[in-house]
Amino acid sequence: MAEKRNIFLVGPMGAGKSTIGKHLADELHLDFYDSDQEIERRTGADIAWVFDLEGEEGFRLREEDVINDLTEMQGIVLATGGGSVISKNVRNRLAARGIVVYLQTTIDKQVARTQRDKRRPLLQNNDPETVLRNLAEERNPLYEEVADYVVQTDDQSARAVATQIIEKI
Ligand code: S3P
Repeated sequence: MAEKRNIFLVGPMGAGKSTIGKHLADELHLDFYDSDQEIERRTGADIAWVFDLEGEEGFRLREEDVINDLTEMQGIVLATGGGSVISKNVRNRLAARGIVVYLQTTIDKQVARTQRDKRRPLLQNNDPETVLRNLAEERNPLYEEVADYVVQTDDQSARAVATQIIEKI
């Protein structure tokens, strides 16, 4: 962690980015940010509303703006939205501004962790397992491409994963 003082967590919905990110920030005395929360703070609307009003396209523009702005800072842990890496600009930006950690998990865990979730518009109205499988096919190569490190989050507590990340970086 010598010169790059930011840690960016990428990975799919239900990988534990926010929970693990908070532990990591605590342990390393860094500030924690979450791109979804920042979009909600700026718009005063929840993510589902942004999708409803502006579509996924509008949401992605906001997500890219937020990530550009947050990555200007130094000394942060950022939990990125699971779809942010579909933008090449975002991938380049993350790679240039910090250490990128891909939190990997199984589809079963993702389904379990997002089960009763009404917050994620992409998981409403469709079978979550099918959606998550399709997204994984498209996005896993992108998480891998941008990541400096890959960490499994399946069978460990968030605190244990945070410790593992600290040992790696
Ligand atoms: C999305 C993931 C969500 C959120 C939005 C879209 C995605 O963030 O940005 O619902 O496209 O995978 P989390 O990865 O924090 O759930």
